[in-house]
Amino acid sequence: MMTMEKMIKSSALALALVAVVGCTKKESTTGATNAAPAGDTILVGEVGSMTGSEATFGTSTHNGIELAFEQINAAGGVKGKKFKLITLDDQGKPDEAATAATKLITQDKIQALLGEVASSRSLAMAPIAQSNGVPMITPSSTNPKVTEQGDYIFRVCFIDPFQGTVMAKFALDTLKVKNVAVLRDVKNDYSVGLADFFTQTFTKNGGKVVVDQSFSAGDMDFKSQLTAIRAKKPEAIYVPGYYTEVGLIARQAKELGLNVPLMGGDGWDSPKLTEIGGKSIEGSYFSNHYSPEDQSPAVQKFVSEFKAKYGVIPDGLSAMGYDAAKVLADAMTRAPDLTNKAVRDAIATTKDFPGVTGVITLNEHRDPVKSAVVLKVAGGGYKYQTTVKP
Ligand code: PHE
Repeated sequence: MMTMEKMIKSSALALALVAVVGCTKKESTTGATNAAPAGDTILVGEVGSMTGSEATFGTSTHNGIELAFEQINAAGGVKGKKFKLITLDDQGKPDEAATAATKLITQDKIQALLGEVASSRSLAMAPIAQSNGVPMITPSSTNPKVTEQGDYIFRVCFIDPFQGTVMAKFALDTLKVKNVAVLRDVKNDYSVGLADFFTQTFTKNGGKVVVDQSFSAGDMDFKSQLTAIRAKKPEAIYVPGYYTEVGLIARQAKELGLNVPLMGGDGWDSPKLTEIGGKSIEGSYFSNHYSPEDQSPAVQKFVSEFKAKYGVIPDGLSAMGYDAAKVLADAMTRAPDLTNKAVRDAIATTKDFPGVTGVITLNEHRDPVKSAVVLKVAGGGYKYQTTVKP
């Protein structure tokens, strides 16, 4: 059961009553012939980890989505309708994510689904969206399997075969390390995939993975894995996990005298990483979707609008949430009508969309091809290092 169910009503939405959403006719399993709901709102569902050990993923993403819809509504909405967002918390659990998706689709009759961040949870939701013919856009799930779930499933982020390559090349060419350890979360599809993709490119280009250790999400003691890693004397450790475990791993590595940089992926992106990791995580590197230091007008405009509303600098997840909502609105504007099929087809033809996190063109796999950035943990925050083009 959901512990928290939030009906988000920003002031700009206050006038948009959810009067009529009941005339959606459910047809068989594809939903492709659904009638477009009447009324003056477009109901969008969001599923995220608003609580739990990845809570900043959910809340950051939500803030980005909310800002986007507020701006779109203020500019008149889409086809004369205003967006209304229903957000459900999955507590960071795949089965809760599936329950939430089902509820949003069958009870609330949403017209599109945004979420999740974590690939394992998007993988739990996608078959439900697909079988009901409801378009789903994940802002930031990077595992390739997510959009393979069907033609109603999209993403606005790069995928992990690319992300793994980015850090493998950075390790070899910039950090000049040849012998690395890998420490992966075996309960996390994203982590397992990214560890494999990194290893492939790293070894193909002359690097060596001297030891490959694993843990399970929720673990708090990593000493035995780190001791095994220390014995192999790696020059760096690749840890493609989420921020809570990575912060703890950084601390315990230092306690064991392992003074080598950690490297990771987008799962590190949280204001909590440096809070948990403290000094131990300083000097480590990770790949990500965007940097707020990027001086491009699109990024700086977003950063200042976000700061004005929430008082903090947006992390990558807020930027991805913002882009996912804007891509959805753009597709709904281009679609001849708001039936699920028409919206799906319009999302699929997204081309050259100017996102905050880069220009978004979806390919035949419903994935965009975009640049990544590498950030260094420094001074309690992140310092931009480089941008890597696909
Ligand atoms: N890419 C991660 C996954 O697929 C989720 C994530 C994206 C986490 C961006 C943080 C920042 O599981």
